Amino acid sequence: MKATAKAHTNIALIKYWGKRNDSLILPTNNSLSLTLDGFYTETTVDFQDSLTEDSFFLNKEKINGIAYERVTLFLDLIRKIADKPNLFATVHSTNHVPTAAGFASSASGFAALAAAGSKAIGLQLADHELSRLTRQGSGSACRSIYGGFAEWQQGTLEDGSDSYAVPIAEQNFWDVRVAAIVLSAKEKKVSSREGMKRTVDTSPFFKGWVDSIPADLREIKQGIEARDFEKVGAVAEANCLKMHATTLGAAPPFTYWNDITVSVMQTVQKLREEGIPAYFTIDAGPNVKVLYLPENEDKIVNTFRHLPGVTDVIVSKPGRGVTYTTED
Ligand code: DP6
Repeated sequence: MKATAKAHTNIALIKYWGKRNDSLILPTNNSLSLTLDGFYTETTVDFQDSLTEDSFFLNKEKINGIAYERVTLFLDLIRKIADKPNLFATVHSTNHVPTAAGFASSASGFAALAAAGSKAIGLQLADHELSRLTRQGSGSACRSIYGGFAEWQQGTLEDGSDSYAVPIAEQNFWDVRVAAIVLSAKEKKVSSREGMKRTVDTSPFFKGWVDSIPADLREIKQGIEARDFEKVGAVAEANCLKMHATTLGAAPPFTYWNDITVSVMQTVQKLREEGIPAYFTIDAGPNVKVLYLPENEDKIVNTFRHLPGVTDVIVSKPGRGVTYTTED
């Protein structure tokens, strides 16, 4: 009972920041993302009657501790749905996500694990069911089931059954590019999980953040539909700034930015003054992702490669949703 699946990571243009239920991973707002072709995880899950426990290998290395726990707890969910509580698996994952790029490999990781695991155990899940399952591994991962633009609908039900992602526009709808600007100092001190919890619990700005989401979503969806790059970029950048503003109001306060993060942000704004449409977004770490159109790729790459404190610029196009590799 073996299956292999591949999933790409995604970058949120409207951020998921805050949970209404920590254990079920239910968010306080809808979020919207673009799946990226440059970064993916490939995972094989092999369930065997002879096994007495799960094992997990990442890039060929045996993993123990918290990362193993998260995988085995996730497999428990799959076993529960399939009603096979005593069936254990060997999991092999390969990350094609340059960790230095600051992309959360948990997004592609849990999407690939959910897809391979559910297929291997014999479940046939519709996309929204797979997204709902994936959500319980890591929230942002539920958007990586789809290629192109996807929206995670927060849902209103207590049990989370209506909280999953849906497709907004497929991979080939619009060639928007994303450059990951990799910075030399990349220590992540507050995880996204911890950071959003502290924000929900203590930041007086959190309510303002949540209240601002419906208008941002409306506008960005109009922008995507019209392929209006300035509109999409401006909404995404403003939404990112609002998310990061909530962390400054938390107790104790924190920020994911460092001096080079700010210098990259200012360079993006300077490019716009020169007439080059470029916009930034930032997740729970110091690296910046820059949105731009294909005709400006050379200018973007050259500008950021030469900025002090930048070690690499990795470009990505819209990516595809989950795919399966057939096993013989
Ligand atoms: C800032 O999905 O990593 O990247 O659900 O606790 O696993 P958990 O959190 P995670 O949070 C991602 C937060 C973000 C914004 C986003 O991707 O929407």
